[in-house]
Amino acid sequence: MIEPVFPEGILTVDRSSDVPLSEQLYRCFREAVRGGLLTSGTRLPSTRRLASSLGVARNTVNAAYDLLLAEGIISVRAGAAPRIVDGLRLEQGKPANIRSRPAPVLSSRGARMAANLRGEGWAFRHGALQPGSPALDLFPYEEWARCLRRAARLERTADLQYQNYSGHPALKQQLVRHLATERGVQATAEQILVTSSMQASLSLLAQALADTGDNVWLEEPGYLGARTAFHAAGLNIAQLPTDGDGADVDQVQVSDPPPKIIYVTPSHHYPLGARMPLARRLALLEAASKAGAIILEDDYDSEFLFSGRPVAALYGLAEEGQVIYLGTFSKSLMPGLRIAYCVVPTDLAQPIGQLMRNMGCTANVQAQAALAHFMDSGGFQKHLKQIRQVYEERGNCLVAALRGRLGNRLLVEPPSGNVQVAVLFRGDLDDVAIALAMQERGFAVSPLSSTYLGTDRQAGLIIGFAGATQEQIDKGVEVLGNLLEGMDD
Ligand SMILES: Cc1ncc(COP(=O)(O)O)c(C=O)c1O
Repeated sequence: MIEPVFPEGILTVDRSSDVPLSEQLYRCFREAVRGGLLTSGTRLPSTRRLASSLGVARNTVNAAYDLLLAEGIISVRAGAAPRIVDGLRLEQGKPANIRSRPAPVLSSRGARMAANLRGEGWAFRHGALQPGSPALDLFPYEEWARCLRRAARLERTADLQYQNYSGHPALKQQLVRHLATERGVQATAEQILVTSSMQASLSLLAQALADTGDNVWLEEPGYLGARTAFHAAGLNIAQLPTDGDGADVDQVQVSDPPPKIIYVTPSHHYPLGARMPLARRLALLEAASKAGAIILEDDYDSEFLFSGRPVAALYGLAEEGQVIYLGTFSKSLMPGLRIAYCVVPTDLAQPIGQLMRNMGCTANVQAQAALAHFMDSGGFQKHLKQIRQVYEERGNCLVAALRGRLGNRLLVEPPSGNVQVAVLFRGDLDDVAIALAMQERGFAVSPLSSTYLGTDRQAGLIIGFAGATQEQIDKGVEVLGNLLEGMDD
């Protein structure tokens, strides 16, 4: 009987590969069938012949044939050569045919959750003066490495297993102390949930506390991350107007039904920087109470407010269950650490902790343990003290440079905290185009107008300073000046 001779290249074996020879042969046959080189009914060589022509053991060929048989690619009858099974249509998977299949698409829920509400002009690549970026040049890398090493060595307990979905107990204890002394937030460890970012906390809480179609109030202008989380949860977002004192519930257009959630940044309004005075805070609490809404207090940058005594968190003024406090280590340490937290009402801690388990949004345990040690050893406080001072210096440098070169074209106040500052253009300029032009020149600034939900928008830029060098500030201001002057022509 004449046995088939395969064209050159169908069967090749690489003896230096880690992939077993039998597996390699199986893959070659499979590929040849898929690519239409071996068609239905084709006879394969006997194990003896194939083994000798390839210089491999017969067992190797046997094992490859067993795999093809198990997958239904060949049939074997006693005394006959194996054959590619009749009617096999593996070749339907050829690339040409794959292309003709409709491309997989997101569900409508998936598309809503994946929406980019930041829109055009938001910098997604890294560049100088990027809003939201902390000073990585000041980060105590050596000390942090020691904390991580220690955590990797010491954490050999059940904490490393499927456990503690709502956060590492040691970090929760540190947060209890930190929040009480720094922010006037009295909470128990059980109330604290440690997440992988403020964004994760917002998404978690939006899903947990409101149903599709429920109303949420969001500061106008406001944080795009919060808007994203509420949009993803299918909530109706209503504008909560702001002025020089932050959010003002008295200016809200009556929304019926009342909101389930009210999101605010009372310590330092994002993006314009107002600090909410006591009277406004009390009015906010009263309005929330009347509406039966829960307040999400985003205290993203409160550990380094520069001027005046830091006002205690709104949380401390509220009754139990009225406010959920949210914090992050993205600004005080680094975004890449992926650790944030929230303080939830006692009754919600267990079910939302279970939700965290279901959604799989727990933060890395070893990083949490390292952070707990960093806080316990005083390293975090020392770092905060240093960055508070340097952030303030850098913020003032940026503002002085902007005012010096461009005072007639824009308005900017010395920042009272934060890692970025909002600059308002005098006149109705296209801030998206200006942000894009800045980005092309290496400056990852963002347009202010896209932080508004409504059409009454202030044009300007959000400019980061915490990680900026003097050279970057000078160059950035120069580039902005040239762009604004170019618009006069
Ligand atoms: C108001 C506000 N909240 C939260 C965050 C981010 O927190 P995270 O990085 O933990 O998601 C930012 C970052 O820029 C912010 O500006």
